[in-house]
Amino acid sequence: MADIGLVGLGTMGAALALNIADNGYSVAVYNRTGSVTTDFVAGAGDLAGRLTACTSLKELTQAVDGPRSIILMVPAGAPVDAMIDALRPELSEGDLIIDAGNANFRETMRRAEASKGTPVKFLGIGVSGGEEGARRGPSIMGGGDRDGWARVEPVLKAISAKFEGTPCATWMGPDGAGHFVKTVHNGIEYADMQMIAEVYGIMRDGMGMGSDAVSEVFEGWNQGPLASYLIEISAIVAGTADSVTGKPLLDVILDTAGQKGTGRWTAIEALHLGAPATAIEAAVAARNLSSRLDERKTGETLFGVASGRIDASSISIDELETGLLAGKIACYAQGFGLLSAASDEFNWSLPLPEVARVWRAGCIIRSAMLDDMATALAENPEENLMFAPTFTERLRASHGALRRVVAAAALAGRPVPALAAALSYFDTMRSARGTANMIQGQRDYFGRHGFERIDGGSGHHGPWAD
Ligand code: 6PG
Repeated sequence: MADIGLVGLGTMGAALALNIADNGYSVAVYNRTGSVTTDFVAGAGDLAGRLTACTSLKELTQAVDGPRSIILMVPAGAPVDAMIDALRPELSEGDLIIDAGNANFRETMRRAEASKGTPVKFLGIGVSGGEEGARRGPSIMGGGDRDGWARVEPVLKAISAKFEGTPCATWMGPDGAGHFVKTVHNGIEYADMQMIAEVYGIMRDGMGMGSDAVSEVFEGWNQGPLASYLIEISAIVAGTADSVTGKPLLDVILDTAGQKGTGRWTAIEALHLGAPATAIEAAVAARNLSSRLDERKTGETLFGVASGRIDASSISIDELETGLLAGKIACYAQGFGLLSAASDEFNWSLPLPEVARVWRAGCIIRSAMLDDMATALAENPEENLMFAPTFTERLRASHGALRRVVAAAALAGRPVPALAAALSYFDTMRSARGTANMIQGQRDYFGRHGFERIDGGSGHHGPWAD
């Protein structure tokens, strides 16, 4: 009998099944198209002995040892509901369904609620790391039934990435907690990628650097405080030549970015929760605007493309690195603030230091800085990450560079929406006296909404109220 079942042999599902088998567990696999299943097992080489090809859900459930654990790796949304409905009649008391796709956490909450009082337990887990991660060690953010998690924890820890020997697989909380953490991971991923794209734009358009030179810069940065998977792959992407034209590959890739929705969900939830994640919102908007190529062409015809240069007297490559670091810290502060707000709203008790810990390896946003974030959050999980001494120190030393980067880009006509959002967030959060007194005055003027006075009391009105 197989230790575990897995439904859905797309790129991620197939990689995950091989990873589980590689770790000594036997897996019964099923894909809607039967030939995909048989081909997959036939091509699994040494691991084929631990894989059982099943041609129906009945066969799959009969092949898995009870109480059964079945992983779903099918596209998020309706296919997950359809698969759960199809599986349920084949399952019995204590069996466990694990949705390991990129589900919207609200759907996971609905599914978790629907499973209550039924014989079948439900888990929603976020899996990050792309195909390579799924095959060799992803970061896993669990959510849902705690006993169910305890049952599959040894398998998930075994297949997960390890940071200095510690598995990157943790139960984050009940119902949608795991998928929410994964969603915020992806939101941060969007902002991280966007900020890197913005500094690339400054180097390309403002400083006139070619892709190879940009690649070298990123390679250098990957040895310093910005060391991360995304900087590493940016160096590789920038340094790769197009096999057709021989030009730098970046120069032949169309500048319109795709998206599947997780970044947008993060921005939507940030708005719902009143926990602004402006760098992430800016990154989502930038992807949307990137796809409006025709409109951008019209704009360029009307206004002319910006031609401002950014020379070494305005900012240096080192300042660009330092500015990016500051932007990144502010962005993560927003991400963890959002997690904290969601934790309160949904009573999840999210373990924020654990979130930072499981992101240290395996996932797309893995970076050297996440270990320091885990330490800072362990000391004070409630506080804004920017106020943790180690990050306060780093921001004191780096926000000037971010300011110069954003200013130089603005003067040269180069858009840096995520970096600018991060800077504005930083400046807002260090201003004890803001400008919302004007908003309150306006609201009171047109709607008698009342305001608080700085010398005390609420419900005051201006003379216009009379
Ligand atoms: C990961 C990635 C992964 C996937 C995203 C990309 O953590 O492994 O985030 O989940 O790459 O779905 O999403 P977009 O297509 O929206 O960029």
